[in-house]
Amino acid sequence: MINIEQNFINLHPQSLALSKKGKVLFPSGVTHDIRAFKPFPIYVEKADKGKKWDVDGNILIDYIGGHGSLLLGHNRFEITEAIQSALKLGTHFGSSHQNEIEWAEAVVDMVPCAETVRFTSSGTEATMMALRLSRAYTKRDAIVKLENHFHGWHDIVVGKNNNNIISSPGVPSGFYDSLTILPNGDIDALYERLNKKDVAALILEPTGAHWGAHPLDSEYLIKANEIAQQTGTMFILDEVITGFRMSPGGAQEIYGLQADLSTHAKILAGGLPGGCVTGKKEILELIETRDDKWNNQKKVSHQGTYNANPISAAAGKAALDLIKDGAEIIIADRLSKKLVKLLNQIFKKNKIMGRAWNVSSMWHLNLGYKINNLLDNIEDTRWHFDVEPQGVRNDLVLPLKWALINEGVDLFGTGGVLSSAHTDNDIEKTGVAFENAIIAMKKEGLVI
Ligand SMILES: Cc1ncc(COP(=O)(O)O)c(C=O)c1O
Repeated sequence: MINIEQNFINLHPQSLALSKKGKVLFPSGVTHDIRAFKPFPIYVEKADKGKKWDVDGNILIDYIGGHGSLLLGHNRFEITEAIQSALKLGTHFGSSHQNEIEWAEAVVDMVPCAETVRFTSSGTEATMMALRLSRAYTKRDAIVKLENHFHGWHDIVVGKNNNNIISSPGVPSGFYDSLTILPNGDIDALYERLNKKDVAALILEPTGAHWGAHPLDSEYLIKANEIAQQTGTMFILDEVITGFRMSPGGAQEIYGLQADLSTHAKILAGGLPGGCVTGKKEILELIETRDDKWNNQKKVSHQGTYNANPISAAAGKAALDLIKDGAEIIIADRLSKKLVKLLNQIFKKNKIMGRAWNVSSMWHLNLGYKINNLLDNIEDTRWHFDVEPQGVRNDLVLPLKWALINEGVDLFGTGGVLSSAHTDNDIEKTGVAFENAIIAMKKEGLVI
């Protein structure tokens, strides 16, 4: 066992104790795949603004941000106040209510493609509904997604390319006959597939797979949008992460895209459970309940006990009200750029094969791989598309995460998201943490 791991264990005795119980109760001891962690996950007691406190009293600068749902940071006053007010009135009416109207009005106001809205309880449900609507509207079955793009965990979107056989265990054979997975950013492959004119929908994460870890060029997005339009394919932007984060109108506003449908969750519901599919009225109206003939032949089925529940609606409405003028986004973006610049300075100073980059308030790391062109201009914090980022080298992933947690920094995967509640001081402390982590990793003989 390397020292970094031993330090991690020494710093987290209470987490270790809880993890022993978790291991008995949950597969891998956790409640979400991304929280599975060796030798055991940390257990968090409370959070505020850009920080979390674990059960051992360690303070962590938090780059997970509620899996990307907390653009405004933990415990934003206006949101917790809206939740508390709503709680006093009841948690579930099983009826329509005013907050769902105001929440949907905010979505229609902010999201360029939004004409009408259907709320769901999660991003997974939103993408599932967007694909079902697309199939019903186009009367086509085929779906195209891009390699590694994540759209939740329902059957069709978890199809993976395994030696060119698209599959996921647990999904009936033949289920993926209608799915094509194309390489990220390959416009010719996309044209060839969509031009067969049998594809119901193209769904993608607008900044690239895993919120930009495999970046997509905006030129690709614009062309993909055009090809989808020309071929009668529904263009679905999965803005579960980018929505209300990159701009009040999300990636579609930034890149000038014309989506038929877009899917949202996370920030949409102010950090509470909630999602939506929004877009063209003529597509969403397929969910309408009409006469028997329509209901039996045309209606797209959609229910959901917690759709637009009063508490999520109150939190979501409060969050969108705070985000709509764009000022909070500017703060988070500035901090993200500042962090990336600082990390790149540290990599350069320590002669590390590393590069950080950001898209808006989302940042990623390339570590342990030689990159030729990137450290020349430290001011430029974008990814450049002449080389494909490789991420963090496998043997470095765990030591980096341990070392950073030991230094008080919690990454989201191998990067992170910023909020408007992070501070300049958080960024500076993260820089110190990274430098110490690198020194610790080098001491262990790891080559970076
Ligand atoms: C782009 C994207 N789509 C869909 C989802 C699924 O959302 P949820 O976890 O709310 O089901 C996620 C979740 O991280 C996501 O990042």
